[in-house]
Amino acid sequence: MPVVARTRLGLAAARRGLAAPVVLVPTMGALHEGHRALIRRARQIASPNGSVVVSVFVNPLQFGAGEDLDRYPRTLKDDILIVAEEGGDLLFAPGAPQMYPRPQLITVDPGPVGRILEGESRPGHFAGVLTVVAKLLQLVRPDVAVFGEKDAQQLALVRRMAADLDLGVEIAGVPIVRDPDGLAISSRNRFLSPAERRTALLLPAALRAGQEAAPDGPAAVRKAAGEVLATRADPPLELDYLALVDPDTFGEAGEDHAGPARLLVAARVGTTRLIDNIPLSLECHAADD
Ligand code: PAJ
Repeated sequence: MPVVARTRLGLAAARRGLAAPVVLVPTMGALHEGHRALIRRARQIASPNGSVVVSVFVNPLQFGAGEDLDRYPRTLKDDILIVAEEGGDLLFAPGAPQMYPRPQLITVDPGPVGRILEGESRPGHFAGVLTVVAKLLQLVRPDVAVFGEKDAQQLALVRRMAADLDLGVEIAGVPIVRDPDGLAISSRNRFLSPAERRTALLLPAALRAGQEAAPDGPAAVRKAAGEVLATRADPPLELDYLALVDPDTFGEAGEDHAGPARLLVAARVGTTRLIDNIPLSLECHAADD
């Protein structure tokens, strides 16, 4: 079983006994196969002698008014068992007063990439994410921190924060883990009814269609994915955004973009908001007939 620390003092005491390299997996709990893949990757990076720390904290700072902070699942007992099964050494599960003992007056500005796509749909979200990640990195002082490509914009912003603020931590990314039907695993999937889940499958279907069109260039990718998302469904899919971006800058990939790119989608099904993405390799078609 991992050591469980519920306070900063408990964490500091347990941290002193951890052998390097220390690898951190930040999460909001309700751990599932996606999180397991991150912990396994952390175990690989840390092994044989290093240590794996998993944090579980539902961070109020990254939820907007009217978002699902109150219904966010909290399953700490199960989370402890999962961390144990995956070979985690320390689980840090602070309460909000431990993370925010006083009003958080100083926050991390996520910059321009933090204000587009997810940042545009969820104002303040990435400032909340980067602030809590910066605090977790300071409290745990890991050598490496592991994040999922499920939240590709978050991963890009954390990488950029680590570099721009000279945090001295290496950031590792892990590919998206999907259910057998193709849906990217998320703790929010539990809110989907069977009919809503069928509609939600339009997201991975659109991404696959876009990926298949990659040899025909950016316009073909957007068209192929857009057509799938426009499929009539009951209940309907309410599209938030479909974007084809440069994987590093997250700027829209123009018609002359060649090489790696990422196709991103966000949509609502019923009351549940879902995000998904896929990497692809674009051929340049700007100069074609
Ligand atoms: P949470 O949604 O719990 O996700 C924790 C980590 O697991 C993130 O890096 C996320 O990208 C990754 N993850 C979730 N589902 C995944 C899947 N299906 N495949 C691969 N990776 C997956 O992301 C957060 O928490 C928070 O914003 C946090 C970084 C902890 C800051 O509060």
